[in-house]
Amino acid sequence: MPQRSEIQRVADAEELTAAAAGLFVRLARQAIAERTRFVVALSGGRTPRSFFHRLVQSAASVDWSRVEIFWGDERAVPAEHSDSNFHLARQELLNHVPIPGDHVHRMPADTSDSDAGAAAYQAEIARVFGVPDNGDPPRFDLVLLGVGADGHTASLYPGSQALRSLGRWVTTSENPQTGMARMTMTPAIINRARCVLFLAEGDEKAEIVNQALGTGERPEPLPVELIRPEVGRKIWLVDRAAASQIETVSPAGHALIAPSILSADFANLGEQVGQAESGGADRVHVDVMDGHFVPNITMGPVVVRSLRRVTSLPIETHIMITDPEDYVEAFAGAGSDSIIFHQEATTKPLALVRRIRELGMGAGVAISPETPVEALIDLVPHIDLALVMTVQPGFGGQAFMDSMLSKVERVRKKISEVHPTCELEVDGGIDADTAPVAVQSGADVLVAGSAVFGAADSIEHAIKRIERATLS
Ligand code: DX5
Ligand code: ZN
Repeated sequence: MPQRSEIQRVADAEELTAAAAGLFVRLARQAIAERTRFVVALSGGRTPRSFFHRLVQSAASVDWSRVEIFWGDERAVPAEHSDSNFHLARQELLNHVPIPGDHVHRMPADTSDSDAGAAAYQAEIARVFGVPDNGDPPRFDLVLLGVGADGHTASLYPGSQALRSLGRWVTTSENPQTGMARMTMTPAIINRARCVLFLAEGDEKAEIVNQALGTGERPEPLPVELIRPEVGRKIWLVDRAAASQIETVSPAGHALIAPSILSADFANLGEQVGQAESGGADRVHVDVMDGHFVPNITMGPVVVRSLRRVTSLPIETHIMITDPEDYVEAFAGAGSDSIIFHQEATTKPLALVRRIRELGMGAGVAISPETPVEALIDLVPHIDLALVMTVQPGFGGQAFMDSMLSKVERVRKKISEVHPTCELEVDGGIDADTAPVAVQSGADVLVAGSAVFGAADSIEHAIKRIERATLS
């Protein structure tokens, strides 16, 4: 089931490239740890230039001998031409990292017989992945994409033949404005990726980003709207300017559900998370407690590392700990996709948000019931997720605190005013009765622990019960 877009809005281009480089490093380390290599498709254009620069600065964090580089698209120009995407990457990145030459797979868009060139590139992809080149496309670990003002992505242009090249992973294309011949990966192979990362910065992208993320019905979907990873993640990393026209994010049709493993049977954790995934969970919520910030001790990075091997769902890590700054790097290395820290646990929340983003993770902030909502409202413009605790942090199975609903409403109002892509999560006492109440107040992500893993019938049924309750 295609996932909803995950949107990270950062302040400016500099934070965007830092977050993109952090995500690249984190996904590379994860892929190499799990599958001994990291296979990525780069894109061209303006934003990648600064992204490549930033990546060179963190180059030491990646084992480049295990990285395979392809391109999502290329112009029909020679390798040394200044318009070549390959040329840009070689100048700004590949000449500065120790990647073996035969791990760099340039897209031969300038081949005289371009169809033969596209077929040869498809064969090269198949060879590197060790699969036949006429079957299902292989899974790239990461595909980097931009988006044009006309809604094109890679070199997939509105109305172009490339959009309909069934069975092909790579095909020929051309830029309708310039007539420039191009070569491009098709949605078929891009949508198989484990992660598709869109980078968009600047005012000139604001309109198309809103269209790409919105719910606008069009007779012909924009090429960018055809990118819907089947099981992988679709992340939009946008700066404030490019996000400035986002009115609403196309809802997933229901509030997202994040089962909390705190109430799971730890003797069967992998199996139960698998049941949650097949029951339609949108992410896994990991409750980390240190016995200081809350009077309970639970789990740490080692559990995230194990979970990472058994689920492709995003792992959101709710750290109810003192000194959160000291642990975010360990969770990034273990495979957390986002960190939710408590506003009460740090005196420098914005610095911690920046650090979490540099580590390639989403940044969320939580407030406990006794904390005034203003503490969270002030941070909304800077974060990806605001969490209003609806129980005292520390234990599962507590009763939902109705008194927290006014906080949810206040945070929803602030999000609507200044940061519509920020998620609003509630956590504690969520079940089929309290979920609709929380959603009506403005929550769009629901954490449920005992209602899911403590359900009398099954984990799958429990998740569907909560989901159905929020649709009515
Ligand atoms: C409590 C945790 C919650 C808890 C939710 O400190 O942050 O995530 O596990 O459990 P239930 O859904 O059982 O209240
Ligand atoms: Zn939690």
